[in-house]
Amino acid sequence: MFIHQPVLLGPVMDLLRGRGEQIVFIDATLGEGGHAEAFLAEDPRLILFGVERDRQILERASRRLDRFGSRVRLFRMSFLDFFRSASELVVGSPQRIFFDLGVSMFHYQVSGRGFSFRRAEPLDMRLDNEKGFSAEQLIAASSREELRDMIRDYGEERYASAISAAIVAERSKAPIRDSQALARIIGNAVPPSYRHGRIHPATRTFQALRIAVNGELELLSATLPLAFESLAVGGRMGVISFHSLEDRIVKRFYQERNKSCTCPPDSPICQCGGRRRARILTRKPVMAEEAEVRGNPASRSARFRVLEKIA
Ligand SMILES: C[S@@+](CC[C@H](N)C(=O)[O-])C[C@H]1O[C@@H](n2cnc3c(N)ncnc32)[C@H](O)[C@@H]1O
Repeated sequence: MFIHQPVLLGPVMDLLRGRGEQIVFIDATLGEGGHAEAFLAEDPRLILFGVERDRQILERASRRLDRFGSRVRLFRMSFLDFFRSASELVVGSPQRIFFDLGVSMFHYQVSGRGFSFRRAEPLDMRLDNEKGFSAEQLIAASSREELRDMIRDYGEERYASAISAAIVAERSKAPIRDSQALARIIGNAVPPSYRHGRIHPATRTFQALRIAVNGELELLSATLPLAFESLAVGGRMGVISFHSLEDRIVKRFYQERNKSCTCPPDSPICQCGGRRRARILTRKPVMAEEAEVRGNPASRSARFRVLEKIA
């Protein structure tokens, strides 16, 4: 049974629907293949390259998309590694590139890797749990200042200082191994008004740990330029982000490609050739309508931006 509802499906299809002979579509964050399935079912000319970092979820997507046969090619790797080798992995230039960032409902509800603070699960949080450091290792090895900066910068958490102090005090008594224990420590570190606020008090800290463990912002910043280079002229790139840190990276990248001159502001003459490379198709990000948010609360924070390559 598939549990992840693809967000903003209507606008994503409207803005990324292909035209022309054969559409090469790269879904750089395949997840459970919800968006991918909709595109494949709608357009029999579409060839899908699906990239996914998480082995377990890729297996689910693979079963789901099996009926499309050779129109689907799957890659288990990070999207950065994929776009580093795109010229070898993809025949021709893709007309559509799509990112639906972050994690899937599968990670919260099924993976058992500590993404959710509602159950006691080992604090792993890696999307590719064969590489890198787990959240437990990160918590154990970071100084109080490092934890504070991480929780403040990646979680935009105003109580980062109190939370990091509480984590350091608790870990000196016993290692913090599970997600519920961490959530309890966070809950006890923040003021009661925050504890009973709109979002669970651990939400922002868990977001920060997940971003840090998976290097999410660095990967996104490094990947967008490579993805743009691989895109065909006339092709489109669409990104759904779920928090302001990601959205800012996407927005700045789009603005940069939308400008005619990209020389530093203090450069006396234009040296870049002054050629505009792209136009932004979404002046404001597309967001979910009320009905979608009611049916799928995860869509509340989704922001979708689309760029068209013109040169
Ligand atoms: C929001 S889900 C995508 C859901 C998908 N659009 C659907 O409808 O089923 C994001 C997916 O991207 C994957 N992911 C996150 N960062 C990645 C990266 N750097 N490279 C490849 N996959 C990544 C996650 O494992 C997750 O499965």
